[in-house]
Amino acid sequence: MKILVTGGAGFIGSAVVRLAVSRGHKVVNLDALTYAACLENVAPVADSPLYAFEKADIRDPKALAEIFARHKPDAVMHLAAESHVDRSIDGPGAFIETNVMGTYNMLQAARSFWEAEGRPEGFRFHHISTDEVYGTLGPTGQFTEETPYAPNSPYSASKAGSDHLVRAWHETYGLPVVLTNCSNNYGPYHFPEKLIPVVILNALAGKPLPIYGDGSNVRDWLYVEDHADALLLVLEKGALGRSYNIGGENERSNLELVRTICAILDRLRPAKQPYAEQITFVTDRPGHDARYAIDPTRIREELGWRPSVTVEEGLERTVRWYLENEDWWRPLLERHGVGERLGKA
Ligand SMILES: NC(=O)c1ccc[n+]([C@@H]2O[C@H](COP(=O)([O-])OP(=O)(O)OC[C@H]3O[C@@H](n4cnc5c(N)ncnc54)[C@H](O)[C@@H]3O)[C@@H](O)[C@H]2O)c1
Repeated sequence: MKILVTGGAGFIGSAVVRLAVSRGHKVVNLDALTYAACLENVAPVADSPLYAFEKADIRDPKALAEIFARHKPDAVMHLAAESHVDRSIDGPGAFIETNVMGTYNMLQAARSFWEAEGRPEGFRFHHISTDEVYGTLGPTGQFTEETPYAPNSPYSASKAGSDHLVRAWHETYGLPVVLTNCSNNYGPYHFPEKLIPVVILNALAGKPLPIYGDGSNVRDWLYVEDHADALLLVLEKGALGRSYNIGGENERSNLELVRTICAILDRLRPAKQPYAEQITFVTDRPGHDARYAIDPTRIREELGWRPSVTVEEGLERTVRWYLENEDWWRPLLERHGVGERLGKA
């Protein structure tokens, strides 16, 4: 299959690109190379004859039409997005432009191409979204695919808007779509502005490990390579027009998570003091959702998928990867806004 992956130079998109090429798919990686992108993320497949790169912006409809016409993909996996909640608080406009308008442009380009090709049955537009569209949970319960949308941040609101557009393009124009809403990812190549790499790299640098509020916010952590595997499965086997929640079955509070990372680092790279002594509680993020948890019944029962690693195994792999890949992360610390406290509003 020839798959047009948008956002393939980012964290999750690059995991999808690496996995898809390793499974013999042709991949066209369309990415604008924003501050969050890194072409080294796809270096393992960059020389493959199965791989092509297109530097393009999903806010540019002409560029998209040209890329569809030239590459004639069998499927689209749409991951390109502004993805950092704290940045969405400081500058929501970019999130509306890329996540809402950019998705609209992708849908229109895909639809025109699909119609021009005679509406091939096997074509798929897979929209990759987040569990944050459902808002926040109390101490119990889980998000199902039927949970009403109630996004609380500009980021999650922009992703919710894009999900609605995708659904509407299926209902109105018959575009063959599938959607996925996933919990928090972590793993290799995670951009060093997100919690887990921040904690690993600050710990190694002897800097404070910032935890928002009291650290009680709970997330359902999913190893990025498990996510990529689930995404390819939904693309190939998911029912048309259907959405699938993808979770790690690994709920942890932020404080528990950071303590686990510290314990791994104490073992792998012991310092004079336990790393947990660097934990510092900082002002909370406005609108910070208390808890996310995914009910994965649909993807498990319909498609037979479940995550392959526990959060402890995945964190150990991740910490080892950061210890071994300083050449990758060191230059990224110089990028705009990295290392600063963003999103205090
Ligand atoms: N990170 C998570 O935990 C998580 C969880 C669930 C869903 N998601 C979703 O998965 C997708 C990928 O997330 P990520 O964490 O890999 O993000 P990321 O920020 O690491 O990567 C985003 C990529 O999109 C590209 N991009 C941004 N704006 C673009 C534009 N206008 N045109 C073309 N390319 C553009 C960037 O250059 C970058 O390579 C997003 O849609 C996000 O909403 C992320």
